[in-house]
Formats: sequence, C-alpha cells, structure tokens
Amino acid sequence: MFPERRMRRLRNGKIRDMVRETSLSVNDLIYPVFVNETIDKPTEVASMPGVFNVPVEKIADDAKEAADLGIPAMILFGVPETKDEQGSSAWGDDDVVQRAVREIKSELGKDMLVITDVCLCEYTSHGHCGMVNYDTEEIMNDPTLPLLGKTAVSHARAGADMVAPSGMMDGMIAAVRRALDDNNFQNIPIMSYAAKYSSAFYGPFRDAACSGCCFGDRSTHQMDPANSDEATMEAALDVQEGADIIMVKPALPYLDIIYRLKTEFQMPTAAYNVSGEYAMLKAASQNGWLDEKQVMYESLISIKRAGADMIITYFARDMAEILK
Ligand code: PBG
Repeated sequence: MFPERRMRRLRNGKIRDMVRETSLSVNDLIYPVFVNETIDKPTEVASMPGVFNVPVEKIADDAKEAADLGIPAMILFGVPETKDEQGSSAWGDDDVVQRAVREIKSELGKDMLVITDVCLCEYTSHGHCGMVNYDTEEIMNDPTLPLLGKTAVSHARAGADMVAPSGMMDGMIAAVRRALDDNNFQNIPIMSYAAKYSSAFYGPFRDAACSGCCFGDRSTHQMDPANSDEATMEAALDVQEGADIIMVKPALPYLDIIYRLKTEFQMPTAAYNVSGEYAMLKAASQNGWLDEKQVMYESLISIKRAGADMIITYFARDMAEILK
C-alpha cells in the first residue's frame, strides 16, 4: 500500500528497460507483398501510402531489400492477368504467385521464408473466395476445397516454404493438408487464418489486390465481429485438421481474441495487422495528428503483449529499419 509501495520507482532510466515484459524483434515480422503481373513498375496503393504492388520481375529485389533489413519472412498475394469463374489463375505453374516464389527462392534461398496466401478471391471474376452458385448466390463450400488443395500444392511445387489458407471454408485446412501430403509436401507447414472476421478493415487490401466482390459480401464465411467463443471453435477445428500456426485477423480490434487463443491453445499464434489498421495510422500521421513511429511501435508491441508470436504487418519494413 502507498506510501510503502510506489510503482513509479521502476519507471525511470535503465530499470524501466530492465522490467519491460514484452519485446519486439525483427524475427516477429512478416512482410506482406502484392505481386502483380499486370504492371511493369512498382505502383503505390492509393489507400495505403508506402505500400506497393510489385511486378514479378521486381519481386526478388523487393525481397532482397526486406532480407537485408533482417526480415525473416514474407507473405505473397497475387494480382493475376486473368480472372475466371473458378479462379484458375490461382494454381497454374506459371501463374503470378508461382513465378514470384521461384524468383524469390532462386535469389534468396533460405534467407527468406516465403509464405503464400491461399484463397481464390484474387483470381475469380466474381471476387468471391469460393465457387458460386448463381441461382442462390451461395458461396459453395465443398466444391471449393479441392481447388484450394490444388493451389497450395502448386505453391509448394514452386518452392513456397509455408502456405496460409485464408478463405474461411469449412474443412479447408484438412483439404490443404491432405493435398500437400499426397504430393510429398509433408514438411510444408500450414499457417491457418483460423479466426478471420468479416471486417471493414480489409477495405484498402481489396483496392490493392483488386479483390472486391461484384455482389454480396464475405459474411457467409467470415466471422461475426461480435463473437469470441466461436473463434475458439474455429481454432480447435483448424488445429485438429492440421494447422501448425493459428492466426487472428484483424489484430488491433481483436486483441482479446489473440489473448484468448494463445492462452487456450498454446500454439504458435500469428496476428494480421490488416490494411485498414495501417491506413488509419498512416492517414492520421500524414495529417500530423499522430506520431507515426510511436503509434506503429505501440500497436505492434501491444499485439505481441496480447500473445502473438508473429505479426503480418505493412509496417514490417519501417519497423525493421528502426529495430536494426
Ligand atoms: C483473402 C485475404 C484478404 C486479406 C488477406 N487475405 C481479404 C479479404 O478477406 O477480403 C485482407 C488483408 C488486409 O486487409 O490487409 N485472400
């Protein structure tokens, strides 16, 4: 009790650093990149200042710059030349992500861990994450699963080190695990977007990846922001189906979910600090309303404190620069 107990004693000078409970390391960062086969020079995303669509020909240079900053991993999102009903440009050996993976791996080998996002929404003409029944406007679950399996296998064949299914189809982790195993990719881990909420914070990403829907939304497969118990069920199923890492997405509005999943599952846990979270801080900083470096650090350390072991963030390069 005061005056014997004075919390301020440990808040000053070196001791403040020594009692810090959480730390942020460059090894916590995953750098997200949009690789785009329709452009020939890097193009900034309007709603995400400082974030670029990168042409396939430039992707190895981009990865090299990240590796030079000490960033251990990147996650790739593809923007393809062609889209169709099925999203077939997701799984061809010469499609955008597969080419990009080969470019990065041949340049950097083990110096960059390459993760690929496995979903169909960037590749389908309708922009949905699965096959669509137009009569009912339903996103069909089971017919989508083999396509996700096929996509994951094509990424692994190109040299991807890890796959990250993000489509929130039921049974998707099992389908991807089985497809990988059947093709001798038993050692490729799966980072599952286990608790992915139906969030308006993905807005800028959909501009960046040209993946908006032409009708409807993603609420029939992505989670209701009001739910928390459901996240534990999603994570339990994904773990049973073979997920090696579970992810919570978005991050900042869902710190309670990160904390809960880390505590309940004690699994390697990732958080996705999404496009809208980035855009908010950027916009306010550009207006001079927030100090960008400080809010970036505070956001990322808070995500770690909540329980994340690793963070996918558009701030990866800026943060790595500071940590260096
Ligand atoms: C789906 C996917 C999305 C994001 C990552 N993977 C978009 C969506 O569900 O619409 C969003 C990431 C972000 O907002 O930064 N392929």
